[in-house]
Amino acid sequence: MFSPIPDCPIYLAPMAGVTDKIFRQLCKDEGADVVVTEFVSAEGIFRRNERTMRYLDFDTSERPIGVQLFGAEPDHLGEAARRVVEWVQPDFIDLNFGCPVNKVVSKNGGSSLLRDCPLLEKVAATVVKAVAPFPVTAKIRIGWDRNSINATTTAKILEDAGIRAIAVHGRTKEQGYSDVADWETIAKVVQTVKIPVIGNGDIRCATDAERCLKMSGVAGVMIGRGAMSAPWIFREIKHYIATREILPPPSLEKRWDFIKRHCRLAVEHGARGGEMTTMHSMRARLTAYSHGMPGARVLRQMVQHVSTLAELDQIADEAIRNSTTDFADGGK
Ligand SMILES: Cc1cc2nc3c(=O)[nH]c(=O)nc-3n(C[C@H](O)[C@H](O)[C@H](O)COP(=O)(O)O)c2cc1C
Repeated sequence: MFSPIPDCPIYLAPMAGVTDKIFRQLCKDEGADVVVTEFVSAEGIFRRNERTMRYLDFDTSERPIGVQLFGAEPDHLGEAARRVVEWVQPDFIDLNFGCPVNKVVSKNGGSSLLRDCPLLEKVAATVVKAVAPFPVTAKIRIGWDRNSINATTTAKILEDAGIRAIAVHGRTKEQGYSDVADWETIAKVVQTVKIPVIGNGDIRCATDAERCLKMSGVAGVMIGRGAMSAPWIFREIKHYIATREILPPPSLEKRWDFIKRHCRLAVEHGARGGEMTTMHSMRARLTAYSHGMPGARVLRQMVQHVSTLAELDQIADEAIRNSTTDFADGGK
């Protein structure tokens, strides 16, 4: 594993609109070993606008941290990576070859490069050269669609281009987030390259992480949506790997303390406007947090209307008070 990444790292997956500085720090506190920024456009780096600079902002307590870049123009990506290294000195640059969003794919970025291996090779080699000897990693999907699963080919190309580690999301671009992540193809990637491979997709609990590590032989795992609803998953995975014991989930009180802290930090430090705007932007996050809680269906409706921290306090108090009641939906 390239320094300073620890053995068997547990990564927080990059998630646009989710893994901002506040959430990354919260996940670090919960035991995430490595974090990655939301993806940043190479073109945005040139414009150096306020939003892009915010994406690049991190605290030293978040290290090791990678800045994830996307784009399609090799020289632009190379220059953008060079500037990022000069400006903020992250621990590594990560290249996004997995984004399925049309806005990115239509400009040949993200997962689009999976169906253009010569360009993929050029992008990776150009960026590696532009920042050498600084480490560059990559995140891929297993292919463009089910008829063109080529993760072993793309991984080999990336390794030969000097990429130091590869995170593989076990789905094709066409699948988006549907179906089940294909860890078998991730295992084939592990057998194909010598660099560390990080397994990603559908790891929702400690035993999933253990299964993914065992089944595919990956060097580490990366957690996305599982961390959105249960950021303590990092602690649970580590405890399970070390002791074979499954930690009981945090009490409802502890969960709500965490959620309220997240919202308070977002309001205090967030760059998304005042309390009301910030709380509106937190609604989707609150929906994710409600997953698996008693009365989740009712909670989801309640958080769709939350506008202030005081309202959130009331929802939390009510949820804790009602938690002894037998909810019909069993937390679904
Ligand atoms: C809201 C959201 C935003 C995402 N943004 C990014 C991104 O900016 N860069 C990236 O490489 N992957 C992104 N992803 C994909 C995740 O990193 C991860 O590969 C995917 O969610 C599968 O892992 P999971 O099953 O643990 O969620 C995003 C996923 C979600 C749900």
